Amino acid sequence: MKLALMKNRFWRIDRRPHGTDFAGALALVEDAVPEPAEGQIVIRNAMLSMDAGTRMWLTDRQDGYQPPLEVGTSMIGLVIGEVVQSRAAGFPEGTLVRAFGQWGDYSVVDAVMSGAIALDPAVADRRAWFGPLGMNGWTALWGIEQTGAAKPGERVLVSAAAGATGILAVQIAKLLGCEAWGIAGGVAKCAYLTDTLGIAGAVDYKAGNVAAQLDRAGGFDVYFDNVGGGLLDDVLTCMNHYGRIAVCGLLADYTGGGRTSPREFDQVLMRRLRIEGFFSPDFMHEGPRLTERLKTWHEAGALVMPYDVTQGLENTLTAYAKLFTGGNIGKVIVELTP
Ligand SMILES: NC(=O)c1ccc[n+]([C@@H]2O[C@H](COP(=O)([O-])OP(=O)(O)OC[C@H]3O[C@@H](n4cnc5c(N)ncnc54)[C@H](OP(=O)(O)O)[C@@H]3O)[C@@H](O)[C@H]2O)c1
Repeated sequence: MKLALMKNRFWRIDRRPHGTDFAGALALVEDAVPEPAEGQIVIRNAMLSMDAGTRMWLTDRQDGYQPPLEVGTSMIGLVIGEVVQSRAAGFPEGTLVRAFGQWGDYSVVDAVMSGAIALDPAVADRRAWFGPLGMNGWTALWGIEQTGAAKPGERVLVSAAAGATGILAVQIAKLLGCEAWGIAGGVAKCAYLTDTLGIAGAVDYKAGNVAAQLDRAGGFDVYFDNVGGGLLDDVLTCMNHYGRIAVCGLLADYTGGGRTSPREFDQVLMRRLRIEGFFSPDFMHEGPRLTERLKTWHEAGALVMPYDVTQGLENTLTAYAKLFTGGNIGKVIVELTP
């Protein structure tokens, strides 16, 4: 196939976005599909994963866990698709892969640097490779079990609990024998957590008086924090002694550019808490082991994921914004029409 002659539409970063004005910052442009260099593969993207953490890559901060994406380049994110041209060993044409690729019709990536993984085509619902069997699954399991060190019988609280990572974290806490609670925005999301997923309780942070709601819920041993900000202050004052806070993400700061500096930091001493951040690329090498465990739960129907699917590359920015406005329950995905 003469890919170089084929057109590739992709989302280019033209300037750094303000808040959630993604349309003012990214443009859908067209170019030829580049020829792959040695070690590279060309993926025909079938799906794009929308991940809140990528919002940080769009800022100009240099002190993040990775350098910012450069203005003038393509937006990057996880993709699933078929290898249509290969100059990398182990990735023959026709392989179904997941990798960090470009938000476009095609991704041209170095197989190693992009973390490309060949996927088992026997998994019927390919979207699961972005959810329970993907980075969100790995992150949820690691944060609850390793960083949070949750033990059976303990009380575990998760913020952004109706989003992709949070939904998996509350279910995994429950599967490990903990009493799982979630914080989410709105009645529908809280009802989903308690009535559909059957977790012990939910706190609606948009209903106001979060501190009183948390007080009524009682103390927590583990907090899986996706949000930071003022919510972290509220939770710090309701942690049980010797509790653990696993810092997964800082959604409160992503679009506004603020920095979380907990007012209630002294509770770390008063309650002898441990606060620790964790980052999925640090435990990528554990991926196959984590996937096996997640797959067992998933195949048994014990680990579920609702999907929020948008059709068409041209609608990507609408899908992306949902992560920051609370428009989604579960995993946000963009499906590309062939
Ligand atoms: N450390 C790691 O390796 C790692 C890996 C993957 C993801 N993460 C983190 O996991 C978190 C969730 O990411 P995701 O991609 O799975 O997105 P997601 O949870 O599917 O979507 C984000 C959700 O967060 C909530 N939210 C947004 N802004 C908020 C705010 N200011 N305060 C409270 N809640 C807010 C919204 O729900 P509501 O309606 O409830 O507000 C929204 O639906 C992010 O912090 C991300 O950085 C970390």
